[in-house]
Amino acid sequence: MECAYVVLATADRPMSSMKILVVCLGNICRSPLAHGIFDHEIRTRKLDWEIDSAGTGDYHTGKTPDPRSIAEAKKNGLDISKQAARQLTPEDFKTFDHILVMDAMNYQNSRALAPSDALRDKVELIMNFAEPGRNGQVPDPYWDDDGFANVYKMLVKAVDGFINTVTENA
Ligand code: 4NP
Repeated sequence: MECAYVVLATADRPMSSMKILVVCLGNICRSPLAHGIFDHEIRTRKLDWEIDSAGTGDYHTGKTPDPRSIAEAKKNGLDISKQAARQLTPEDFKTFDHILVMDAMNYQNSRALAPSDALRDKVELIMNFAEPGRNGQVPDPYWDDDGFANVYKMLVKAVDGFINTVTENA
């Protein structure tokens, strides 16, 4: 699998208006947690960034996050209950600077939707910001009630790594 992980797309958009999209399959388990963690960190670090999330699939469009993700977020002081699932679109590649995905399937499906080769390179595996170059994947917890706490921990590291990498290189 081909993965680009160090893409600091700041050239066409100043840091102050960085837009990030986190993507999983259903947009109800993993990416809503990443969305909530980013949202919290952006506010805590007073960054003028925007965060959104989407799924490569449309199975859950309009639905709030999975109750197990809402509960895991709540356990960690975050309220993600107002989020609504939506599907990734080709337009997202123009709107967002970084499209951060959870696993290899999200990576392939997202890249396939890109309107051009240049925009395709906005897709990056989120775990490469926690463990550079390893192409790690955030496991899908949909069929694993016990998987949500681990997913949350992985995403905290990835979000922290992403923000540190981008702000240090700005
Ligand atoms: P997510 O998890 O991609 O982390 O939101 C899933 C949610 C729903 C399904 C699969 C994965 N599903 O098959 O409905």
